[in-house]
Amino acid sequence: MKIKYLEDLNTLVSLSKRRGFVFQSSEIYGGLGSCWDYGPLGSLMKLNVKRAWWNAMTRRQDIVGLDASILMHPMVWKASGHVDGFSDPLVDCKECKTRFRADNTESYLKDKKCPNCGSKNLSEPRQFNLMFKTHMGPVEDSGSVVYLRPETAQGHFVNFLNCQQSSRYKVPFGIAAIGKSFRNEITPGNFIFRTREFEQMEMQFFVKPGTDAQFFEMWKEIRWGFYKKYGIKTDNLEFHPHGEGELAHYAKAAVDVHYRFPMGFSELEGIHNRGDFDLTQHMKFSGKSLEYFDEATKEKFIPYVIETAVGCDRLFLAFLCDAYREEITTSEKGEDVRVVLGLHPEIAPIKAAVLPLSKKEELAGPAEKLRAQLAEDFDVQYDEAGSIGKRYRRQDEIGTPFCCTVDFDSLNDGAVTVRHRETMQQERVNMTQLNAYVAAKLKNFSAN
Ligand code: GAP
Repeated sequence: MKIKYLEDLNTLVSLSKRRGFVFQSSEIYGGLGSCWDYGPLGSLMKLNVKRAWWNAMTRRQDIVGLDASILMHPMVWKASGHVDGFSDPLVDCKECKTRFRADNTESYLKDKKCPNCGSKNLSEPRQFNLMFKTHMGPVEDSGSVVYLRPETAQGHFVNFLNCQQSSRYKVPFGIAAIGKSFRNEITPGNFIFRTREFEQMEMQFFVKPGTDAQFFEMWKEIRWGFYKKYGIKTDNLEFHPHGEGELAHYAKAAVDVHYRFPMGFSELEGIHNRGDFDLTQHMKFSGKSLEYFDEATKEKFIPYVIETAVGCDRLFLAFLCDAYREEITTSEKGEDVRVVLGLHPEIAPIKAAVLPLSKKEELAGPAEKLRAQLAEDFDVQYDEAGSIGKRYRRQDEIGTPFCCTVDFDSLNDGAVTVRHRETMQQERVNMTQLNAYVAAKLKNFSAN
């Protein structure tokens, strides 16, 4: 058997549409640039991605959760540096009217040429702010401007003392949040890799200055472990430390986790030592103290922050890319291709499928009962259309770990055949035991 892994993102784009993972937004109107909708399977899987991250963070003894609003006081973005600094340099071609980024367009960096028509009749680079602006209230004037947040992190900083005091946690401790962010990206693309509306999963860990380097290393290790636990192939992951010139305005040290997407290794997550930049800025702009008082040592200090920030959509894409495989077998009958999403079962949208061997009421009745029984604990699918082999393949393609076939023997022995996605092996399991069986398998699944 030959195994082929994902080579082209388009393979995933079409599988996603065909099977209901991701659709183009507003498709019947021709779509809206770089906006995507998560379909029946995609919305389930996205919840699983979020749950995995959320549990990994907030079930620790030293991290609390937060769900901050998208619209914040405009001064937040002045203090954070986004109003003045969150921009890309744009150049206009006066001949063909193309607008492009000055800092990553090869033809411009090399010869000061338009990437579209090659003209040198270009404007000077102008800074283009990436934040989406809107107005709050009925009057659209400069006094009512608010921004859609470009990162969730600022919610953590302005709520640092609220979270710390209400939960009575001591530094070091962290705040975790999942939520939508918006950036008017100049060059979105690669499916859901870079979009203008996306979800972030960010955690800020507040530590005593001087201990920051040690916690930075600790979080690098923890985040690597997370990807390993959920079965991402370590060959497809690497750390990319930022050099001096690459560091964001707030960062003392930074490393990105890169994933080998079909277009090459690209950023999946950022792990940054932000120092006390953000809390200090918010103290300055709000006039309120965000200092922490350490009861034990009677010291007051502004904590340093280690941040871990990953895009939910980007991680969703990494999971799909990593899981996709084609198993190709050649025989005298020709070539057979089994498409499998080898997703970790916690991430897979459907945990088990119930497949009655025939549509006859005799089997459909108990099969439907079994579906309802499994659905008390898991997301399940019921499928009675087509041959059993075809139905197995349909489930393989969406990553369902277990298929449970109800056959005529089931009527006598009360058992079903459980077929495993990875090995295609089958075993008989009593229906009354099935929820416990699936739960145990999901818990003990080891991807590596
Ligand atoms: N608070 C720090 C921060 O926002 P970032 O590197 O700009 O850092 C963190 O973003 C993560 O958010 C990225 O590693 C990426 O996974 C995701 N992300 C950023 N911009 C994105 C976009 N336009 N589309 C999808 N995901 C994005």
